Amino acid sequence: MTEGLSAAVAAGDAVRGTTSPNPPVGCALVGPAGDLIATGATSPAGGPHAEVNALRAAGERARGATAVVTLEPCNHTGRTGPCSHALAEAGVARVVYCTADPFAPAAGGADYLRSRGVAVDFRPARVEALQPWLRSVRHGRPSVTWKFAATLDGFTAAADGTSQWITGEAARELVHADRAARDAIVIGTGTALADDPSLTARYPDGSLRPRQPRRVVVGARAVGAGNLARLGFEQYATPQEALAALWDAGARDVLLEGGAGLAGSFLELDLVDAVQAYVAPALLGAGRGVLNRALTDTITGARRFRTTDVRRAGDDVRIEMERDVYGTR
Ligand SMILES: NC(=O)c1ccc[n+]([C@@H]2O[C@H](COP(=O)([O-])OP(=O)(O)OC[C@H]3O[C@@H](n4cnc5c(N)ncnc54)[C@H](OP(=O)(O)O)[C@@H]3O)[C@@H](O)[C@H]2O)c1
Repeated sequence: MTEGLSAAVAAGDAVRGTTSPNPPVGCALVGPAGDLIATGATSPAGGPHAEVNALRAAGERARGATAVVTLEPCNHTGRTGPCSHALAEAGVARVVYCTADPFAPAAGGADYLRSRGVAVDFRPARVEALQPWLRSVRHGRPSVTWKFAATLDGFTAAADGTSQWITGEAARELVHADRAARDAIVIGTGTALADDPSLTARYPDGSLRPRQPRRVVVGARAVGAGNLARLGFEQYATPQEALAALWDAGARDVLLEGGAGLAGSFLELDLVDAVQAYVAPALLGAGRGVLNRALTDTITGARRFRTTDVRRAGDDVRIEMERDVYGTR
């Protein structure tokens, strides 16, 4: 079971950024002796779900096996048939899942399987790859993770405006790998005009990673800025407009890369679900802060998050935080 779970989680992790609007789910089929028979993960939209891919890989060996799935098998016919039916028809003896399906039309897979005589266990566990999708379903808009890089004392640029490079190479590599796993990157016109950023996901040698997120600029100045359109940036007048258009286009996991003005607006609008802070062991004492405005004037009003991960990258530290923690309901 433990082996099945880690294999299912790894399968889901591997397809992050390729499945929206569907969740990046992983499935592992385990034999009666605990042997790993096959794994599967969600295909790009319109393709088979994780369970069906794992069943296809297993063939006849699926009969009598245990299916470990990171999300409750779906029970509805969308662009593909219900996974609950596919599992029952393949003769799977037991299904273990870690996250209940919050998407009402698809829920009910566990009940259907039980009605067909399949043993079903809900073993709640937080599956990292599913968190943005779970948040997006809950809010009816893409999940927004605000990413920034700052000195130890919270500055993103020195007083003279210089800011490259606050963090080191290892942190930048993490940023590029993370970009490749998101549906879109959003910046404000301030950053677009000041930095002329490419916002691509690259390897350390500068070459492009195979998967690139959509690139979005928000602000009145963005609309009609012909050079931004020519560079392939989508342009929207407001954060709400950008998120609504991204949702309609199937995006569920968005990375907000600043700067301080747009991040302040997203926070004021309560549109930040998670934070990814890269903190460099450097002090400036004065400079430009990560936000350009006060969110409160008293400590009890501070916007608080829960830390979900801390990771060292060279001399820098990446702290990941969430507004609410879901996934084990
Ligand atoms: N260290 C880091 O992590 C980091 C990350 C990103 C950027 N930066 C730095 O930040 C600097 C730029 O900062 P910034 O604050 O000027 O840039 P910004 O946040 O990227 O852009 C600000 C612009 O966003 C638009 N905007 C903000 N709130 C809005 C709202 N509610 N509705 C519509 N549009 C809205 C406005 O554009 P309009 O004026 O066009 O309406 C505003 O002028 C750059 O020097 C860059 O290097 C640092």
